[in-house]
Amino acid sequence: MALLEIENFSFSYPRSEQPALREINLKVEKGEFIGITGPTGAGKSTLTYCLNGIIPHFLGGSYQGRISLGGTSIFDLSPAQISRLVGSVFQDPEAQLISPEVEQEVAFGPENLGLPPAEIGKRIGKALELAGIPGLRNRPTANLSGGEKQRVAIAAALAMLPEILVLDEPTSELDPLGTDEIFKVLDILNKEHGMTIIMVEQKTEQLAAYASRILVFNEGRIALEGEPRQVFVRRRELEEIGVRIPQVARLAGLLGRYEGCALPLTVEEGHLYLESILRG
Ligand SMILES: Nc1ncnc2c1ncn2[C@@H]1O[C@H](COP(=O)(O)OP(=O)(O)OP(=O)(O)O)[C@@H](O)[C@H]1O
Ligand SMILES: [Mg+2]
Repeated sequence: MALLEIENFSFSYPRSEQPALREINLKVEKGEFIGITGPTGAGKSTLTYCLNGIIPHFLGGSYQGRISLGGTSIFDLSPAQISRLVGSVFQDPEAQLISPEVEQEVAFGPENLGLPPAEIGKRIGKALELAGIPGLRNRPTANLSGGEKQRVAIAAALAMLPEILVLDEPTSELDPLGTDEIFKVLDILNKEHGMTIIMVEQKTEQLAAYASRILVFNEGRIALEGEPRQVFVRRRELEEIGVRIPQVARLAGLLGRYEGCALPLTVEEGHLYLESILRG
């Protein structure tokens, strides 16, 4: 059984004429790193709200189809139950931290579960270590960098021991350094700890390098899906939808000479690719 299964799922916001999600079908196995991209209004955030309980509990609306996590229909779970299964990280690092200190922030979820203090202490230590920020434990949250704040948000989610981590454009307000920090943490969580990750992200360069599967959303549907190389080779369709292709892949596409060898996606692969062309 897949960890997450979405079957013929459609969703409309209250009072809206067009569905925001249309007949989504998706199976996610444990340990996958799913990258979701697509133009504005495509329904990417709406999907994340359906996974973390914001829909239906806080935004309402109507839906058809089914979303199940570990075999349980997610819409039958309370917000508290969902918060143990799905960890969420949002776009704005400022808006999601609610405590004055890092330790309190990470303790917040486990405290709400009513866990004993020793267990909470253990979870805080482990979560901070996994997020790569053990040294920030006693820092005030206010003066952290954007990348550090987002890693605190990741640690706070991990302290609940979720089955799956859902992130909605967590790097959009970060500089390149902060962005790299987040991707490196996610990569280690995924590869070394088997964490299942669903990440909405516009930075296709990094998605191509780290995600195991890419979903391109357009007008509420999954328009393209596959391993990064299978998706980013479809240059014309992506340009029509309005998705930025990793620059190296775009260059190779324009040169039109990657038959026989795989489409390069990363800078390293681009080097090898150019060398092979220049040698003829
Ligand atoms: N709370 C809401 N109430 C009503 N309609 C909404 C609400 N949130 C989003 N929508 C609509 O649902 C559709 C999908 O929006 P969504 O925010 O999921 O897109 P997105 O792919 O995340 O876009 P972006 O890249 O801009 O974040 C859009 O047409 C949007 O206007
Ligand atoms: Mg969005």
